[in-house]
Amino acid sequence: MCGIVGYVGEEQAAPFLLNGLQKLEYRGYDSAGVAVYNGTGLHVVKSKGRLSVLDGILEGGRTLPGVVGIGHTRWATHGAPSDVNSHPQVSDGGKFAVVHNGIIENYLELKNHLLRRGVEFVSDTDTEVVAQMLEYYYRGDVLEAIGRVIQRVEGSYALGIICADCPEKVFAVRKDSPLIIGLGQGENFIASDIPAILSKTRDICRLRDKEIAVLEKDGVKFWGEDMEPLEKPVETVQWDVAAAEKGGYEHFMMKEICEQPEALRKTISPRIREGKIVLDDMKLTAEQIKQINKVFIVACGTSYHVGVVAKYAFEKLLKVPMEVDVASEFRYREPILDENTLVIIISQSGETADTLAALREAKKRGARVLSIVNVVGSTIANESDDVLYTWAGPEIAVASTKAYSTQLAVIYLVVLYMAQELGHTPAGEMAAYLEDLQRLPDLAAACLMDKETIQYFASKYFNARDMYFIGRNVDYAASLEASLKLKEISYIHSEAYTGGELKHGPISLLEDGTLVIAICTYGRLFDKMMSNVREVKARGAVVLGITTRDKEETLRQQTDYQFCIPKITDFMLPSLSIIPLQLFAYYVASMKGCDIDKPRNLAKSVTVE
Ligand code: G6P
Repeated sequence: MCGIVGYVGEEQAAPFLLNGLQKLEYRGYDSAGVAVYNGTGLHVVKSKGRLSVLDGILEGGRTLPGVVGIGHTRWATHGAPSDVNSHPQVSDGGKFAVVHNGIIENYLELKNHLLRRGVEFVSDTDTEVVAQMLEYYYRGDVLEAIGRVIQRVEGSYALGIICADCPEKVFAVRKDSPLIIGLGQGENFIASDIPAILSKTRDICRLRDKEIAVLEKDGVKFWGEDMEPLEKPVETVQWDVAAAEKGGYEHFMMKEICEQPEALRKTISPRIREGKIVLDDMKLTAEQIKQINKVFIVACGTSYHVGVVAKYAFEKLLKVPMEVDVASEFRYREPILDENTLVIIISQSGETADTLAALREAKKRGARVLSIVNVVGSTIANESDDVLYTWAGPEIAVASTKAYSTQLAVIYLVVLYMAQELGHTPAGEMAAYLEDLQRLPDLAAACLMDKETIQYFASKYFNARDMYFIGRNVDYAASLEASLKLKEISYIHSEAYTGGELKHGPISLLEDGTLVIAICTYGRLFDKMMSNVREVKARGAVVLGITTRDKEETLRQQTDYQFCIPKITDFMLPSLSIIPLQLFAYYVASMKGCDIDKPRNLAKSVTVE
């Protein structure tokens, strides 16, 4: 959600800024802009719409000379998408240009204060307030002005700032919104996410809340909130550039779907040694595990759907009460937690605003927090008591696929680890679970072998108006994710229901030819699902059934189309059943001509509430 880049060096800034913004397109945006110091003053060019529009205006950056600049892709929060609301926002006197991710919550109060003092505003954005305040408080020292502004603003921000009086510097500061500093040779960078600078450097520093960075071409200096100079550790990013490129695939989403077996292998293999689960990073002791009286899983979007699968696994193996909640609800209710409650936070990005707030709420209430995160060093990872990384590599497509699979794998590892430490599960049963977990990457690869069946099926139904996904137990959990995938990228209305709930309402929506996708892999309730399939078929629905290979024949007699997955431990089934349905969403969206990697209105990382 929104993207920031900044450059200071010897090369031309604008081409780098455009290139960096293009690498952040996946985060979701509706307008873009850059500001470059061009030798005489700050020169700003911005435009509503895709980055290609801005790129066209700037002729790839050639029309905007200068070696210091900032750029932004904006996802509208305050003020509609428009040229004037796009960033950079510039102060009244033209001294400061600012790009901003996040939300300034008290912007109206601050804006009114400045309006009363004669400052003129041109946009509806909260960001313009920051640019105006900088100039208002500026007395010749930019650092001091930034210090005064961050004392007054409330909310979340990652800010890139340039000032006409300091033509060799880029300034950066953040709070609750990610921002990294890239360190190069004779050039330095800021970015809201790593892919933007990966073509230039892998050496980065992460800013913590309210820390300020001042970048010049030959070095970067850091200051703490107390305005004392700071030394920051340098991290080396392990991803290679290719991991953030499409590598021959038409879309990142297909690439990431196909990367799932490998990603699962990287997540699982190093954590199973000599028949035991070893979670080196886990500080939670066996004694503490025994004391756990309740587990919460809190997350948003696809990560929340991982929690829904987890509930079945935790209750089955650990016999511990468990609640799964979306973060935006959890943070504002009054959850009953104590020091024996384990709160598991799941987040691909590690930066989702609601999830981060839920984590802080859980800690405030005394719970222990374990997070499952993909992005190393992200805020959620930093603030948790324990972190388990998914090691999925960068996920670029907005619609999450390999992050979902690897988050599920970590959940299986956690639940089996806790069962192992508690010692209640019979040894033979544990060994069978571990064996299945180790087979998971190969079985996921097997599910990817038959893309054509799904492609053919998609070609018949890509024009459908509505679709329904049904399932019971873990198949219901997979239905939720399958339905989300479809609606996210194809814009087809779809809903997920438990098989048993159908007759309490949604069955009235079925007409001749309505498509129902029935996930029927959970053996214990297979017959119940077959009754549900008969119910929907009796109302004219066309049914695609997904089941395990041993049930193929029965399914063939009951449904119009079938897709079979290998058999595996019950609670791991969603890891396999989701694969044909990710492919289905992809092919439907592709046949409809949708912008698969950057669906409208959605953002990869939702860093505002
Ligand atoms: C956004 C993304 C989803 C993601 C959700 C939670 O809505 O579009 O793909 O599942 O945020 O993100 P997180 O990074 O916390 O897992």
